Amino acid sequence: MVKIFSQILVFFIATFQLAFSQSFYSPNKSFECHFKLTEKGEPAYKLLYKNQEILSWSTLGLKTKAHQLSQNFEIYSHSLTGIDDVWQPVLGEYKSIENQANEFTVALLQKETQLRLNIIFRLYDSGLAFRYEVPTQEKLHYFELTDELSSFQLTADHHTFWIPADFDSQEHVYNETLMSKIDSKLAKDSNIGLQTFPNQNSVQSPLLMKSKDKIYMQIFEAAVDNYPVMHLAVDTSTFNLTSLLATNAVGSKAFLRTAFKSPWRTISASDDAKDMYYAAKTILNLNEPCEIKDTSWIKPMKYIGIWWEMHLGTASWDYALTQSGQLQPHGRHGATTENTKRYIDFAAKHGFDGVLVEGWNVGWEDWYGKWKEDVFDFVTPYPDFDLKAIHQYAKAKGVKMIMHHETSAAASNYERWLDRAMNVMKHYDYPAVKTGYVGRIIPRGEYHDGQTMVNHFHHVLKRMADNQLMVNSHESSRPTGFQRTYPNFIASEAARGNEFNAWSSGNPPSHETILPFTRLVGGAMDYTPGIFEIELEKANPSNKNRIHTTLAKQLALYVVLYSPLQMAADLPQHYDKYLDAFQFIKDVALDWDETIVLEAEPGDYLTIARKEKQSEKWFLGAITDENKREANIKLSFLQPNKKYQAIIYQDGQTADYINNPKAYEIKTIVVNNQTTLPLKLARSGGVAISFKVID
Ligand code: NOJ
Ligand code: CA
Repeated sequence: MVKIFSQILVFFIATFQLAFSQSFYSPNKSFECHFKLTEKGEPAYKLLYKNQEILSWSTLGLKTKAHQLSQNFEIYSHSLTGIDDVWQPVLGEYKSIENQANEFTVALLQKETQLRLNIIFRLYDSGLAFRYEVPTQEKLHYFELTDELSSFQLTADHHTFWIPADFDSQEHVYNETLMSKIDSKLAKDSNIGLQTFPNQNSVQSPLLMKSKDKIYMQIFEAAVDNYPVMHLAVDTSTFNLTSLLATNAVGSKAFLRTAFKSPWRTISASDDAKDMYYAAKTILNLNEPCEIKDTSWIKPMKYIGIWWEMHLGTASWDYALTQSGQLQPHGRHGATTENTKRYIDFAAKHGFDGVLVEGWNVGWEDWYGKWKEDVFDFVTPYPDFDLKAIHQYAKAKGVKMIMHHETSAAASNYERWLDRAMNVMKHYDYPAVKTGYVGRIIPRGEYHDGQTMVNHFHHVLKRMADNQLMVNSHESSRPTGFQRTYPNFIASEAARGNEFNAWSSGNPPSHETILPFTRLVGGAMDYTPGIFEIELEKANPSNKNRIHTTLAKQLALYVVLYSPLQMAADLPQHYDKYLDAFQFIKDVALDWDETIVLEAEPGDYLTIARKEKQSEKWFLGAITDENKREANIKLSFLQPNKKYQAIIYQDGQTADYINNPKAYEIKTIVVNNQTTLPLKLARSGGVAISFKVID
């Protein structure tokens, strides 16, 4: 809802200007941005945070097949406007989000070519955002973008949290090095099936950095739509980062038309790490308002599923195939009617909203890594999966089924089947789908992060919205706040999830302390926490892998890793063994009025408290990396003059993620907003707390 435009200052200059510079401030003046045209007529900006230069002069521009839109510019006009409004997300971490910024727009003209380019800057109290606009004009209609020339000239050799640029996967482990030591080529990961590294030293965004004097910085983007994902090429000697867009099948970047607006590029900074978490609000603010009129059907979901048993290796997605190509049961198929009913019973008994079933449809017997067009049809179940019977059973038990569409990255095939696939969902009352894009993209030559695939992901999201269906995408490009516009986009994976612990060297203990400051800044993640049987060998003797956390940390992840879609990822029989700890997963909320970061050090630890939407309940999650940790937490976020029952789920005295991961303690105490609570976390441990008002 728009409040007011607090300040409107507009300059308009009718005559062209050569030497030009302009500075403007964020609403609270902590940021100052300078814009100028260089002697060559190149647009350039620099950014100061608390009077300290964090980006020095950095040039901007676009390159099309026919034109160089980066120099020989003159100023055509410019304006400065205040933005001040507030809006309410459909699902989210906050009841409402304020959008306050000063917006500087500069319209540029290349006199010789008569081409026009606008650059729009927004200065928030969290940092800077800018985007390009190619307005409607006589000399330019359709164009092929061959490069974006945005640069970010950092001022020192910062500590960086980076994953290598990869046009096909974000499922990498974070590296922590100085910027000068970034060597993305060394970061190939044998656990990731498909990786496409650009031939430059480069990293993915959100890129988190920390300066020697403890200023945190984050470079990212918002509202990526009809455009490729931006990676960052790194010059390790000058600390200059430049935009590196994922390429398309013909070797260029994007096919566009005027009037065109690029995604926003963002640089946030603060001397308090907590602000790097809250920077997610700015990403949302930079996206367009909700396009869906009636959003009443968009609901958070807590779910279980026939899933972990496949990753563990005790069941499989597929049937066997005889030599003559006939389907043949092999006794290990997970998605049977009987097994699904067992999960539905468990969901109903414990109050879960949904049950996901993977491997329900034919195609799995010959799909992986084949680059085949027609693997799945999304409508034909395996013979032992009775769609109708399962629908009726789930309905009778008050549980919703969650659809699974693994596309094997054949996006074109999925688009052809989409209507029929959605008909099946509507017919059998599935409110949500988990999509998957494992493998090399078809149309061939395209990458997961290219414009074609960004458009595909949005196409699916929009058609699902037309049918009031929610989407959780895996192996899609990482989110950049588009869920504000299409809130049926309830979650995505787009990072290294818990599943890597099942079949690879896994996720190091610091992993979950970094994600909230990087990948999750763009949107919710379907991380699939809640694995209680940490030693996987106990469930599958031939699986020697394990989860690199304690059990209590798995609980804390439900609070720390925001998502309105949360899975209890372990097997029902494992939860049956630890029903007292399982209670936290049953109780924890999914949708919030308030989120407060209490302590934060990316890569080390994180403590977050959240208030459930339209309720007085609070939840707290605290996690640590490979170091144990003690902290005293002030509960001043609780309502004054009220008593709360706090149920604390914490690491046991002897807990340790390697030596004794499942040792936990549960205690119930009475607290109020004056209480200071001591927390004790084991190595890679955690604490999860639920707070309930006592009448
Ligand atoms: C990868 C996804 O991340 C995982 O959740 C899913 O089970 C497999 N693909 C199979 O679709
Ligand atoms: Ca995945």
